Parts: sequence; C-alpha cells; structure tokens
Amino acid sequence: MNAKLAILFLMLTIGTAMPVLLGIRDTFDVQLANLHTGYQPEQPIPYSHRLHAGYLNIDCQYCHTAADQSRHAGVPNLQTCMNCHNTVKGNTTESKERIALLASKFADGTGVEWKKVHNNPDFVYFNHMTHVRIAKNGEGFTCQECHGPMENEGVAHQQNILSMGWCVNCHRTWNEEYKKQGWEPAAPLNCDACHR
Ligand code: HEC
Ligand code: HEC
Ligand code: HEC
Ligand code: HEC
Ligand code: HEC
Repeated sequence: MNAKLAILFLMLTIGTAMPVLLGIRDTFDVQLANLHTGYQPEQPIPYSHRLHAGYLNIDCQYCHTAADQSRHAGVPNLQTCMNCHNTVKGNTTESKERIALLASKFADGTGVEWKKVHNNPDFVYFNHMTHVRIAKNGEGFTCQECHGPMENEGVAHQQNILSMGWCVNCHRTWNEEYKKQGWEPAAPLNCDACHR
C-alpha cells in the first residue's frame, strides 16, 4: 500500500489507539520503512567533517546556515568552501588534488552534487528550526543530540535511526521534562503533527 494511504488509514482506524501502536513500535522497534542507519554514500569529493568541524573547529552553522531559521538545515554551496580554499590549496598531493577539483567545479559553475545521507520519507514533517532554536524554552537541541558526533566523521554517515519510535520516544521524554520545568508540553504525539 502507498505509504500516505497507509497513514491515512491508520489515522482513521486506530489513530485513537495510538499508545498501543506506538507501544508496539517501541517494544519491537518495528521498521516499516528502510531506515538506513549507517548509510554512507560515496561523495563526489570525500569532504571530511573531522577535519573541518573537528580539527579546524568551524561552527556547524557556518556551513549549515539555515538550521535555526527554517525547516531544512541546508548544505553549503561552493562559495562557502571557496572563502577558504581560494587561499588554502592543500599540503599533500591528495589534498591538493581534491581542493583543485573543488576549485574547478566552482570555476566552471558545475557545483558538487552531494548525495543525501539522511532522507526521511516525504510523508514525514520535520522542522530544524523548532528543534534547534525553539525547543526547551528557547535553548534548543545541539546538532549532536540527533546526528551524533559529526565532528569525528570522515565521510558523513547516518548515525541515528530516525524512525518514528525515535521521534516519539524523545517527544515523550521531553514532555515529561517540560512538565517538571512547569512548561506546557509541546512535543506532539498526534499523527497529523508529523504526517501532514
Ligand atoms: C565547512 C563546511 C561544513 C561544516 C563546518 C559542517 N558541515 Fe556538515 N556538511 C557539509 C557538506 C559539504 C555536507 C555534504 C557532504 C557530506 O554529506 O559529507 C555536509 C553534510 C552534513 C550532514 C549530512 C547531510 C545529509 O545529506 O543528510 C549532516 C547531518 C551534517 N553535515 C551535520 C553537521 C554538523 C552537526 C556539523 C558541526 C559539528 C557540521 N555538519 C559542520 C559541510 C559542513
Ligand atoms: C574556514 C576555512 C575552510 C572552509 C570554509 C572550508 N575548508 Fe576545506 N580545508 C581547510 C583547511 C585549513 C584544510 C587543510 C588543508 C591542508 O593543509 O591540506 C582543508 C582541506 C580540505 C580538503 C583536503 C583534505 C582532504 O580531506 O583531503 C578538502 C577536499 C576540503 N577541504 C573541502 C572543503 C569543502 C568541500 C568545503 C565546503 C563545504 C570546505 N573545504 C570549506 C579550510 C576550510
Ligand atoms: C531530541 C529530542 C527530539 C527528537 C529526536 C525529535 N523531536 Fe520533535 N520535538 C522535540 C521537542 C522538545 C519539541 C517541542 C518544541 C517546543 O518547545 O515547541 C518537538 C516538536 C516537534 C514538532 C512540533 C513543532 C513543529 O515543528 O511543527 C514536530 C512536528 C516534531 N517535533 C517532529 C519530529 C519528528 C518528525 C522527529 C523525528 C524525525 C522529531 N520531531 C524528533 C524533541 C525532539
Ligand atoms: C531533533 C533532531 C535534530 C536536530 C537537533 C538536528 N537535526 Fe539535522 N536532521 C534531522 C532529521 C530527522 C533529518 C532528516 C530530515 C529529512 O530528511 O527531511 C536531518 C537532516 C539534516 C541535514 C540534511 C539536509 C537537510 O537540511 O535536511 C543536515 C545538513 C542537518 N540535518 C544538519 C543539522 C545541523 C547542522 C544541526 C544543528 C544546528 C541539526 N541538523 C540539528 C534531525 C535533527
Ligand atoms: C513525532 C513524529 C511522529 C508522530 C507523532 C507519528 N509519526 Fe508516523 N512516522 C514518523 C516518521 C519519522 C516515520 C518514518 C520512519 C519510520 O517508518 O519509522 C513514520 C512512519 C510511519 C508509518 C510507516 C509508513 C511506511 O511506509 O513505512 C506509518 C504507517 C505511520 N508513521 C503512521 C503513524 C500514525 C498512525 C501515527 C499516529 C498514531 C503516527 N504515525 C505518528 C513520525 C511520526
């Protein structure tokens, strides 16, 4: 069955039995979709987070500028890379080659087609801004909370399962925490918050 239809069907039939459904998900970690944990596609240029975000300590949002402002964190364009690589040409033969390739793709305007690592099915609604800037009464979650220690990564891979159980578990936990803090529980558990 088409995924969107399946959700609609479940919302109409067992939506009211949500706790049961989610309990099953949590207990058996049922996976209906291909959730791709550990997925690590080969990239056109083996860009390293370990070098840039770890060793050079560049802020995540220097490159993923939209994470606290919109739904998608976004992947940087080559202009961002060239801010440094106009002058940083590399020390080893390998790094020189890779940076030269980057520069040529910038110069001829072809760009780099990075392969998507994380890919929620499009019937799922997830918003970075809410989680990075609004959650926890404005404190927000760190990127690492969901993506793991990206600053240790060579070529990026998916570190968390991103399953419905994962989203919902965190929502439950934080609603409890919100109550303890005297805030209104704001992390939704209703189907149509995440499936719109
Ligand atoms: C200098 C630029 C730069 C910095 C700094 C940087 N990134 Fe990235 N990031 C990229 C590029 C380019 C890609 C796409 C290529 C890839 O997936 O490796 C990417 C990919 C990603 C992805 C996978 C995207 C997908 O397709 O699902 C995640 C998650 C991510 N970055 C998180 C982070 C986090 C967290 C930090 C800070 C610890 C960070 N990045 C710092 C440039 C950067
Ligand atoms: C703030 C400065 C800065 C930015 C921004 C930056 N880099 Fe780098 N990058 C460096 C430095 C410094 C090195 C180390 C060069 C060396 O000595 O080999 C490096 C090295 C590299 C290398 C060669 C190392 C290796 O793994 O072989 C590649 C490829 C690279 N960067 C790609 C990128 C890409 C793609 C972006 C944009 C998404 C980017 N860089 C943005 C500073 C930067
Ligand atoms: C690390 C914990 C955590 C994880 C993981 C998480 N969330 Fe949330 N989410 C929250 C919290 C806390 C809020 C309440 C934010 C606030 O205070 O307004 C929230 C709010 C939301 C909202 C309502 C606000 C909005 O953006 O419309 C949606 C929808 C949502 N999350 C979807 C998801 C989905 C889908 C996933 C999984 C792909 C997910 N969340 C994973 C903690 C989490
Ligand atoms: C509450 C969990 C959560 C937090 C916090 C979070 N992300 Fe994500 N991120 C996700 C999920 C889920 C996806 C997959 C979204 C999709 O496919 O629609 C994703 C996808 C991405 C992507 C792929 C491209 C895109 O925009 O969808 C990048 C890059 C990324 N995140 C970077 C970051 C950075 C940088 C931070 C911190 C500033 C961050 N994320 C914080 C859960 C999170
Ligand atoms: C906090 C966000 C969130 C809530 C609330 C939520 N879902 Fe989901 N749901 C997801 C995410 C993320 C996926 C994709 C990953 C997966 O399959 O686990 C998903 C996947 C699904 C799928 C699998 C579709 C497929 O093709 O594999 C079904 C069916 C579904 N949800 C139904 C529901 C129903 C019914 C409810 C209400 C009882 C609900 N969801 C509430 C986030 C959520």
